[in-house]
Amino acid sequence: MAKKALFTLTLNGEDTEVATAPDATLLETLRDGLGVLSPKRGCNQGVCGACTVLIDGLPVRACLTLTARCEGHDLRTMEGMNSDPVMATLQRHMVESGGVQCGFCTSGMLLSARNLLAETPRPSRETVKSALSGNLCRCTGYRTIVDAVCNAAEELTP
Ligand code: FES
Ligand code: FES
Repeated sequence: MAKKALFTLTLNGEDTEVATAPDATLLETLRDGLGVLSPKRGCNQGVCGACTVLIDGLPVRACLTLTARCEGHDLRTMEGMNSDPVMATLQRHMVESGGVQCGFCTSGMLLSARNLLAETPRPSRETVKSALSGNLCRCTGYRTIVDAVCNAAEELTP
C-alpha cells in the first residue's frame, strides 16, 4: 500500500486535515477518509455526475479530481450548504416537484443547479437542461428536476 500523505483541505469553510494516499481521488478522500457521504460513488469514471462537488464555486467530478489538487481551494459539498437560502429553495422545489426519487443523483444535481443559479439567476428551460446534462438520473426522466430548478429560479428572482 502506498505511503499516506497529509493534506489540508478547506472543506465547507473549515480547514480539515486528512492522511490519504498521494494519488487518492477527492471522492475516495471525502467518502472513505472523512466520512463525507453526500458525493456518491456512481460510475467512478467521470460519466454520471453523482460525485459532483463545488470547488471555488464550480461543479467538478470528485472521482476524477486528485485530492492533492484541492489544497488551497474552497471545497463545498451538500453537508456545507445548510445555511444557503438558494440551496434551501432548490431543495424544497425538488421535493415538491417529485425530482427526488431514489436520491442517488440528487446531491450532484443540486450542486450543479446551485452553480447555475449563481451564474444565471433566471435561466431558460433549455439552459437548465444544458447545465444539468452532466448529471444522470435513472429515476425521474428529468422533467421534474428541470421544473424544480425553473420554479426555484422564479421564486428567487420574481
Ligand atoms: S462517480 Fe464521478 S462521475 Fe460518476
Ligand atoms: S432520483 Fe434516482 S437517480 Fe435520480
